[in-house]
Amino acid sequence: MEQKMVKELLLQSLEHERGGMKIYQTALKCAQNEELKEEWQKYLEQTERHVEVLQNVCSQMQLDAEEQTPGRKIVHDMGTAYVAAMEAALGAGDPEAAQCIAAECVTLAEHTDHMNWELIGEVAKHMTGADGKALKEAHKEVEDQEDEHYYHSRGWLRELSLKSLGLKAVLPPPEEKKHVKTAIGAARAQASAHKR
Ligand SMILES: [Fe+2]
Repeated sequence: MEQKMVKELLLQSLEHERGGMKIYQTALKCAQNEELKEEWQKYLEQTERHVEVLQNVCSQMQLDAEEQTPGRKIVHDMGTAYVAAMEAALGAGDPEAAQCIAAECVTLAEHTDHMNWELIGEVAKHMTGADGKALKEAHKEVEDQEDEHYYHSRGWLRELSLKSLGLKAVLPPPEEKKHVKTAIGAARAQASAHKR
């Protein structure tokens, strides 16, 4: 494996999780739906834990968790852009629209999170020794939560968007009720809620 890129993946993932905390803190200001607030509060707490998990992985692997790289800076700036978009939406005075923008920002951020942890899982499979063990454990602890963050956020975004269009919407989204954690499960949940 390219050790330099493994380090880059871990540092970018850590930066992304830290940005995720700010994204959830801002998204919570945009949330109107009580169940959505509860969900995002839970995801914020889990994201805080993911930051810790990655910091622990860095120290196990003797990586400086604060080392800046050009890629990491881009991840940081993208997170800032999501927060700025939500703040702007809040300022525009349409709470329903701001909630939709927040769901979009959360979904985009969780998509990246999901991809990062998928890659971390692949790297972990190929890593041996104490580092490999630490990375496998980190992945095992976080993987399911990231699946849920992504598929459920996407469900919220879809249903909130349908509602804003004046179309039939299922809130909370079916992904929630069915505890979806896979792509096929998400497709089934969506199909069952919106049969033609
Ligand atoms: Fe996440």
